[in-house]
Amino acid sequence: MAANWKMYKTTGQTTAFFQQFKAELNGSESCEIVVFPTTLCIPAAVEAASGTSIYIGGQNIYWCREGAYTGEISGEMLHDAGATWTLIGHSERRQYFCETDANVLKKTQAALEAGLTPVVCVGERLEEHQAGKVHDVLIRQFAGGIAGLTEEQFARIVIAYEPVWAIGTGKTATPEIAADAHRLIRSEAEKRFGAEAAQELRILYGGSVKPDNIGGLMAEAEIDGALVGGASLDPHSFAKIVSAG
Ligand code: 13P
Repeated sequence: MAANWKMYKTTGQTTAFFQQFKAELNGSESCEIVVFPTTLCIPAAVEAASGTSIYIGGQNIYWCREGAYTGEISGEMLHDAGATWTLIGHSERRQYFCETDANVLKKTQAALEAGLTPVVCVGERLEEHQAGKVHDVLIRQFAGGIAGLTEEQFARIVIAYEPVWAIGTGKTATPEIAADAHRLIRSEAEKRFGAEAAQELRILYGGSVKPDNIGGLMAEAEIDGALVGGASLDPHSFAKIVSAG
């Protein structure tokens, strides 16, 4: 279960979140938990999560190790700050910061080289959904952003299916719609990397996941977890979502 905090929370709010979240979990983490705060809050999150099995991740990296790239940070820098995971290619980065499938591939490779576990995000926009192009979009994103990995690299990534029309809109994909997309992604994985690798692959669903809809989503065998935005900002609601995992 993963929490994408996007551009929310200060350092103090990060520490306060973990205090309450840890108390609600009460040491009974039922699944792997990753929290993705803003880069500036990573050290506070790492400190607050120490002694628990909660992982901390960044929301984005640049693919070079260092250099004259004003405003960017590398995978090594994230790792140095205590992060062990990173999001790659979130739809908001594709939409507002011009990320392409080619960039997603380079960033994923850089994350793996830095020892981070990348969560590579894919998903169709509303107009693509309405035009019945979901499979085309996912096949294109897989081919451009993921298929170029080696088998060893692929074994270390997690994929998140996030239909853009479901993000922050309160419109969750039905468990059936999400499972259908996950099956398509898994079949692309099987074609490129083989049946075993496809079976091992973890695919998270993201888009308006809340405590009251997580149960139906997790009941689908194809859905291995969730990438949660808005509902992960509140420790009580994220703890409830985690317990469904
Ligand atoms: P919401 O849960 O707020 O819809 O956001 C989903 C998301 O973008 C997670 O990465």
